Amino acid sequence: MQPKPSIVNLPVYIPGKPIEDVKRELGLDHVIKLASNENPFGCSPKAKEAVIRELENISLYPDGASVSLTEAVCSKFGVNADQVVFGCGSDEVIEMIAEAFFQPGDETVMASHTFSQYYHNAEVEGAKIVLAPMNNGTHDLPVMLDLVNDRTKIVWICNPNNPTGTMVTHDEVKAFMEKCPSKTLVVLDEAYIEYVEDPRFPDGLALLREYKNLVLLRTFSKIYGLASQRIGYGIGHPEVIKLINQVRPPFNTTRSAQAAALAALADDEFVAECRRANLEGIAYLTGEFERLNLTYYPAYGNFIMIDVKRPAADVFNGMLRKGYIIRSGHQLGFPFSIRVTVGNRKQNEGLIQALVEVLNEVAVTV
Ligand SMILES: Cc1ncc(COP(=O)(O)O)c(C=O)c1O
Repeated sequence: MQPKPSIVNLPVYIPGKPIEDVKRELGLDHVIKLASNENPFGCSPKAKEAVIRELENISLYPDGASVSLTEAVCSKFGVNADQVVFGCGSDEVIEMIAEAFFQPGDETVMASHTFSQYYHNAEVEGAKIVLAPMNNGTHDLPVMLDLVNDRTKIVWICNPNNPTGTMVTHDEVKAFMEKCPSKTLVVLDEAYIEYVEDPRFPDGLALLREYKNLVLLRTFSKIYGLASQRIGYGIGHPEVIKLINQVRPPFNTTRSAQAAALAALADDEFVAECRRANLEGIAYLTGEFERLNLTYYPAYGNFIMIDVKRPAADVFNGMLRKGYIIRSGHQLGFPFSIRVTVGNRKQNEGLIQALVEVLNEVAVTV
């Protein structure tokens, strides 16, 4: 067998540990997962009902072009149908963009600590990855611009950034777009946009009207609470979206995912309540981290990266034994930090209680 050379040494993606595995391995009855930035409040009841209704049609292929959902996205965001493409999670939109644009030897610029799938898919396609140093966990867009050259096919901007949670502003992105060559595609991944209330946050849709080489990524996995359904989308210029559609598998999103997303998109009340509860959770957790003398990056999504001054893997394992699955920073390039998803009030209080105990058990090393 002769696999393509670019994938031979690729690591397999390591997701947040599943709850069932932890229960079995540690003999725990009660395990809380605050590792993968899922919504602790579940999804809109209307989305759940839509999935149940859609089971009637389980034997039928889905609508490959997601026509109804496309219409709903278009009317909500004021874009045209030829500007939207859906994926099996925004993960698949990232994959399709990489497949459509990269040739071996092309360059791609991304932040040194950002969402791993940009790196992974660029590697699969044999692109040369140029990592941009960050400024206190935040994308440094002027530095990224300096790294763009004639060979740069794609620049990835994750906003808010996973795993650090930081954001770049509208003015910063606009200044970047203004100078970025129009033949370089800029992917602005807004997986956590619905959580952000800061008025400086980029208006990606307005930027799209000005820059043909911009693509926005959105997902139903985060605030909409539909991670299991695997549905996300890209919005961009019709020419770019057409290219992505050309590599899209025929039935890449399921009937239940489309139905759930359609119902979720219409439930603004659920989204607003999750946003409010998340901001309350961030205020509570960051207050507690300060009380514990721990520093953290400013959090704009539904997760927080905290410097625990101890080996991340030890803190992760200590938390696991207490029934809390969090994300160890050592897999994310932060060997002394942990990333926690903001849970509901009870989960957040339990998390802090467990963390205090673990910090007492693990010696400070930095
Ligand atoms: C920044 C970012 N982009 C994209 C994704 C992928 O989301 P999904 O494939 O579930 O839509 C994630 C998931 O964690 C993410 O954090």
